[in-house]
Amino acid sequence: MNPRTLSLRALLFLGLWQTGWRSLASAPELQDPPKKIAVVGAGIGGTAAAFFLRQEFGAGVKIDVFEPGSVGGRLETVKMGDYEYETGGSVIHPLNLHMKHFIEKLGIPPRKDVPTKMAIFDGKELTFEESNWFIVNFLRMLWRYGFNFLRMQMWVESILDKFMRIYQYQQYGYSFSSVERLLHAMGGDSFLTLVNETLEETMISQGFSQIFLNDIVAPITRVNYGQSVRINGFVGAVSLAGADSGLWAVDGGNKRVCTGLLYHSKSELISARVTSISVKVRPSKTGATTSFYEVNYVDASGSAHSLYDIVVIATPLHQGKSDIAFSGFSPPIPSHYPGRYHQTVSTLVHGLLNMSYLGTAEPASKFTVSDVLTTDTKGSVINSLSSIDPVHIPPGYNRPPASQTKVWKVFSQHSLTQEQLQDMFISRDSVSETKWLAYPTYHPPHRKTPPFILHNRLYYLNAVEWAASAMEMSAISARNVALLAHHRWHQQEGKIDQEDLHTRLRGEL
Ligand SMILES: Cc1cc2nc3c(=O)[nH]c(=O)nc-3n(C[C@H](O)[C@H](O)[C@H](O)COP(=O)(O)OP(=O)(O)OC[C@H]3O[C@@H](n4cnc5c(N)ncnc54)[C@H](O)[C@@H]3O)c2cc1C
Ligand SMILES: *[C@@H]1O[C@H](CO)[C@@H](O)[C@H](O)[C@H]1NC(C)=O
Ligand SMILES: *[C@@H]1O[C@H](CO)[C@@H](O)[C@H](O)[C@H]1NC(C)=O
Repeated sequence: MNPRTLSLRALLFLGLWQTGWRSLASAPELQDPPKKIAVVGAGIGGTAAAFFLRQEFGAGVKIDVFEPGSVGGRLETVKMGDYEYETGGSVIHPLNLHMKHFIEKLGIPPRKDVPTKMAIFDGKELTFEESNWFIVNFLRMLWRYGFNFLRMQMWVESILDKFMRIYQYQQYGYSFSSVERLLHAMGGDSFLTLVNETLEETMISQGFSQIFLNDIVAPITRVNYGQSVRINGFVGAVSLAGADSGLWAVDGGNKRVCTGLLYHSKSELISARVTSISVKVRPSKTGATTSFYEVNYVDASGSAHSLYDIVVIATPLHQGKSDIAFSGFSPPIPSHYPGRYHQTVSTLVHGLLNMSYLGTAEPASKFTVSDVLTTDTKGSVINSLSSIDPVHIPPGYNRPPASQTKVWKVFSQHSLTQEQLQDMFISRDSVSETKWLAYPTYHPPHRKTPPFILHNRLYYLNAVEWAASAMEMSAISARNVALLAHHRWHQQEGKIDQEDLHTRLRGEL
């Protein structure tokens, strides 16, 4: 017996036929599960969406994922010599529970941990270098910055505490119709204020010193988002959490999660670029009308189109990122929302570092720093310089000191010139450059973030990047959009935009 006749019987039995008929007639097809869903983009957002959509809608629905480039999107590796290295999104926080759950589900191990060591470069010299001794670091920091350091850890922790609430809400099936509502459910008004203020404003008002912001906080926002402490307070907190200990990566490359999710979700990968999406209204069996989305795409063999019940856009709708025309929608949907994406150039160099570039007299054979962050000084060319390890750590591997030829990753806003490279490296065996439109250029106070819901059954996952861009943020958004799509399809309004979930679910823990 199909679920539709079952529900009709139940309605008749309850004597609700007369009243029930109306809602059935207005949305006749919506009682059945959808037949076809399209996901546009196969980065971590799109592939996680496919995974969660399968979970919500079951085995019967056909899920197509469109991707003209390589699966993984901003997660990408390049080969230097014998090994592969991450060139895009590289580190994951220990409390990023979706990412953790994905690798467990897919049976992929985390990459073997290689201890890191940080230093800060002000354009002339190294102003700070982490010691191997925790107590030495601690005393140095206390000496220079008083309790700013401890207070920062407490501040980030308090935000993380609220952030973690999203996992419980999603576990219980709750979803949110906008980025603002999602943030509000996690951290109330204080989270909305965070997105609307600069990190600098937030931290100054919390009593942090300007010198601490310049010396310590700015280098962290520069390495993670290529921008200053004028990014919003929320992405700023995400960035500072990204300087925590216990960060991890996926063995063999982070993009393996994307191919794994795609496979696990039993979706079909269509290697094509989506060019436009239009809404089509069709009469249905019962005489009422239903709407479909016509997805037009081009691949190697030309252009084609297909009809879908639900579409999830999992690529930024911004200049230079994607160019999808939406037609037949009222109100119209723009191809590009306001706001720009920030360029970060990732240059991998297999070569020998010029130690005098860092203004240090330390012998290269003793220099084992992995991450050189930079302060925000006029004319600074690089955002960071890191000694990086392969995506798969071979047995017995130790990070070599700077006296050996190895792979360095430089983040900068513009392409490095030959002269700049020559200054930084004594010799170069190979160089590989990737120009990313990496993450939004954050300029709070923020106008409204783009919506999750573009049209009845057309969703937009990357709206979340305006709060913060990270793998886990795309995964959270993917789960949210899958839940939203499910609840709206089955008219379960009670699972959308519920207020005060934190108090209501407290007893359930
Ligand atoms: C240099 C760099 C460093 C980073 N470091 C970190 C980090 O350490 N930790 C972290 O968590 N995050 C990091 N990030 C951010 C993180 O990589 C992104 O937030 C995340 O990967 C975004 O995933 P996504 O799937 O939402 O988008 P994307 O990965 O951009 O995926 C979108 C996909 O859609 C495809 N597409 C575009 N247009 C169309 C179309 N018309 N039709 C079909 N497909 C289309 C694209 O080809 C792309 O594959 C970093 C990013 C960069 C660039
Ligand atoms: C190393 O860097 C210093 C300082 O930037 C520069 O003067 C020198 O020419 C560089 N050395 C080499 C071998 O490139
Ligand atoms: C953010 O600030 C702008 C301008 O100050 C204001 O219009 C907007 O409502 C604020 N948004 C939130 C979510 O507080």
